[in-house]
Amino acid sequence: MSDNFPASYDPDTILVSVAWPYANGPFHAGHVSGVYLPADTFARFQRTRGRKVLMVSGSDCHGTPITLRAERENRTPQEVVNEFHTSFLKTFNRLGIEFDLFTKTLTENHYAVTQDMFLRLLEHGYIYREKMIGAYSPSLSRFLPDRYVEGECYNCHFGRARGDQCDNCGILVDPQKLINPYSVVDRQTIEFRETEHFFLDLAKLEPSLRDWINSYDRDYWRNNTTQFTLNWLNQGLRGRAITRDLEWGVPIPLDDPSFKDKRIYVWFDAVIGYFSASKEWSQRQGKPELWENWWHSGKDGKLPARQYYFLGKDNIPFHTIIWPAMLIGYGELNLPFDVPASEFMNLEGDQMSTSRNWAIWLPDIEERYQPDAIRYYMTAIAPETRDSSWSWKDFVAKINNELIGTYGNFINRVLNPLQKNFGGIVPTPDELDESDRKLLTDAQETFARVTELLEGVHLRDALKEVMALASLGNGYLEEKSPWKVIKQDVQRAGTTYYVAAQIANALKVMSYPFLPFSAEKLHELLGFEPGNPEVSSYSGVAEDGVIKIPAFAAWALEPVPAGQVLPPPSALFIKLEPTVADEELALLNANKIEK
Ligand code: MF3
Ligand code: ZN
Repeated sequence: MSDNFPASYDPDTILVSVAWPYANGPFHAGHVSGVYLPADTFARFQRTRGRKVLMVSGSDCHGTPITLRAERENRTPQEVVNEFHTSFLKTFNRLGIEFDLFTKTLTENHYAVTQDMFLRLLEHGYIYREKMIGAYSPSLSRFLPDRYVEGECYNCHFGRARGDQCDNCGILVDPQKLINPYSVVDRQTIEFRETEHFFLDLAKLEPSLRDWINSYDRDYWRNNTTQFTLNWLNQGLRGRAITRDLEWGVPIPLDDPSFKDKRIYVWFDAVIGYFSASKEWSQRQGKPELWENWWHSGKDGKLPARQYYFLGKDNIPFHTIIWPAMLIGYGELNLPFDVPASEFMNLEGDQMSTSRNWAIWLPDIEERYQPDAIRYYMTAIAPETRDSSWSWKDFVAKINNELIGTYGNFINRVLNPLQKNFGGIVPTPDELDESDRKLLTDAQETFARVTELLEGVHLRDALKEVMALASLGNGYLEEKSPWKVIKQDVQRAGTTYYVAAQIANALKVMSYPFLPFSAEKLHELLGFEPGNPEVSSYSGVAEDGVIKIPAFAAWALEPVPAGQVLPPPSALFIKLEPTVADEELALLNANKIEK
């Protein structure tokens, strides 16, 4: 299963597309654990394999999530966007989430690319105009976006279904069918009136879309991705309105006065962001055609790049149906290769809720915990295949017992005695005995499995394998007890520490995608030159424009040579006080808003 992708794809060129967060609030743990961290981990892994990785995303700046917040706070949408865009960048920086470009949908470039996509789809006959019925508020004298309408769900009878989606049963809502619809602005009744809009002709695109979905075996897609997609397809595809009666959004690029007060719908422009950001990045590299490597590569006998889309499960159909349909309609562009969607994350067993302030906010925890501690916990409980739950007790336990107790402890048990008893020099090994060789083979096998798991985007399981090797390392030291052996046989103890140092180095390589800060530190503690900050930093740009990785992090098990001089060791991680869990829980409960 390693490199388990159809041979018709280029193995070396990878687009990591990451869902564009609405810039209407800071990140919570669900966003980061389900989307941004897995994307970064996967991209780091692929970069260390020497692949050409382009990782892009940006703030989703349009749409009612932004305007609702702006209206509520008496600010402009632009002000709201700027605040949270800055907050996103800070979180990425703190946690070491490294994009090649994290931009905004408010750029001139994005507007131009969106309008070009619109015009080309129109020209190709995949966009049509049609009169439709829209929600109109007589009390406000204007049309209202679906998101401003609520009512009783006609499917599950949940009382507060939104006009676009029912949060209870998950259906995409037809607002006209809602029972007793009202406006969320003033709670007044709304009516439905005629208005003209542009539609994406999904029915016309359906055959090509089905051909694509069926074109090769997609059993490597996650279950949720496949299920959501097939459910949608099997309901049959109809045209979807891609414009709205709004002022905030990308203007419709036509000289038609009847469309001057309408805008392109946020979901139409947001998905185009992957494409427009790739172009913006290329322009910033001074090589405006570079984007073609990731988007245009499936022609002239070249194999197409693999495109991965990291997102939450509520975004699946937009990326497996609507976006591919747009790409097919546009023509000559690559389609998604994989859409690793995540499930939801709960908090202390309860659904996270922004309005009840029942959430783990990144701007808060990123100030108080080591980035690798946060990364470790978030990967260990990532909602990869089922919903998961953040629990502070579990957080403290996983950091103290696993990250420190198993992993950090093994590193200490190797580096401290090497310093104390061997003068900080990696000893020359004697002949290896059976258990020495066994452990080295275990490391090789772990490396193969971790590679395979990461390639398949099974990050949580891959991390488990890395930790299991650290455990084997601890078991090996127990069994060998070099601290006893050294009293009779320094040579034999030295061999044990030599072998253990190789395991520490293997752990460094394999932990790098997950725990980049401590991996970089461990690299130095193992006596290697520090990574060149110019090529390992956020802005580091290689000749071909792709972020370079620290030299040490090549995805290979290189030996730590005998004779290597080690600097004085220091701990990789800070242990958490046992009181932390109770304090955090108390804080959470104190800030909770009861409804
Ligand atoms: N802003 C959307 C959300 O948070 C995600 C958009 S993904 C995109 O749910 F690709 F369309 F941008
Ligand atoms: Zn419902």
